Amino acid sequence: MRYRPLSSRLYSKNRAHFMEAMEPGGLAVFNSNDIYPISADSTLPFAQHRDIFYLSGMDQEESILLLFPDAPKPEHKEILFIKKTSELIAVWEGQKLTQKQATVLSGIETVCWLDDFEMLFESLASEAKTFYFNTNEHYRAKVETQTREDRFIKWAKAKFPNHPTEKSNFILQKLRSIKDVEEIDQIKNAIDITEKGFRRVLPFIKPGVWEFEIEAEYAHEFLKNRSDGFAYTPIIASGKNCNVLHYVDNNAQCQTGDLILMDVGAAYGNYASDMTRTVPVSGKFTPRQRAVYEAVLRVEEAAMQLLIPGILIKEYHQEVGQIMTDELIQLGLLDQTMVKNQDPEKPAYKKYFMHGTSHHLGLDTHDYGLVDQPLQANMVLTVEPGIYIPEEGFGIRIEDDVVTQESGPPINLMKNIPKAADEIEQLMQQG
Ligand code: GLY
Ligand code: MN
Ligand code: MN
Repeated sequence: MRYRPLSSRLYSKNRAHFMEAMEPGGLAVFNSNDIYPISADSTLPFAQHRDIFYLSGMDQEESILLLFPDAPKPEHKEILFIKKTSELIAVWEGQKLTQKQATVLSGIETVCWLDDFEMLFESLASEAKTFYFNTNEHYRAKVETQTREDRFIKWAKAKFPNHPTEKSNFILQKLRSIKDVEEIDQIKNAIDITEKGFRRVLPFIKPGVWEFEIEAEYAHEFLKNRSDGFAYTPIIASGKNCNVLHYVDNNAQCQTGDLILMDVGAAYGNYASDMTRTVPVSGKFTPRQRAVYEAVLRVEEAAMQLLIPGILIKEYHQEVGQIMTDELIQLGLLDQTMVKNQDPEKPAYKKYFMHGTSHHLGLDTHDYGLVDQPLQANMVLTVEPGIYIPEEGFGIRIEDDVVTQESGPPINLMKNIPKAADEIEQLMQQG
């Protein structure tokens, strides 16, 4: 691996917390992701399933984690199954983890070869009351493929139809939303790499540059700093493309007078960062662009102050909506009558700001977190308001990542990444 791994202490702690939340007699299984095929013998690069990674630090395909806190034999409470290196694998792919290496990384003493999984699972299943299955219940998930986890669940249900089942996801949503200090440091590493990328592109952006050339600058800076690459498909959107929220073509040429919205984040050690900056292609905002930019910035800074333990995301979004409404009135985009007559289910500001302001961030870019529970300390969230005005040919979003505190407003983990209009203009003119 090219990143510095987190300590096995963290993974042992994560497993202990998971097991404390299980019912007596429960047996939980977590699978790696598949290596996804393209066609012929081509595959996508391997990307580990974040749950097995969170619980073990295993970043290798075909790994399985089994947790059975009430196992009759203590060595069966935590078992890791990994792929054994054959001579063929050694020649073509290189060595896979040894059992000793897997123990050092994960803190798990019992490491078996994958070939032994079925036999051992079957013998432990007969001693378990309940299976904990790890289904994907993320509020935004839309999955059409059958995952390795799905195949395992199907197999286990057919083999042991009388075992009741529980959901691992509910426990993981809670645990993963609160970050350990080591995780926050790893997110900070990803953010520091994102900052390097942004500082690199500022003097590079000029009229005539193509969006994909800017993407390439980020990619270069990320990879040379040991990043895993982009945490999500980057959005490099100039001119009217700023108003396409999930624009990822990145194939237009930047024009004089346009803005360019860059929603880009590096991943490091499987942790994501998520940044948006919007800058003028020519290095100077027009007065109108600057007025809208400063309005978005004020909303962003005001929203951040609201992320205090105890607040519900729903209340937070309502308050941000009110702040945004006031700014849109100042900009002449809304008027008092429109606001007075608005449908509370679809407030007037949604015409110019149609997405949410914050989401959890961590191992996944849209990370786990129970969205109807009050915020707690040590949650990492984005803050990302925007104003999109197709009729004026531009849109602006500003996005930072913050960590909530025990009391008071959060710490902005992106405070070193330039966002004041004057500073952006100054850095762009150094090119
Ligand atoms: N880059 C994805 C998001 O901001 O949510
Ligand atoms: Mn983003
Ligand atoms: Mn985001």
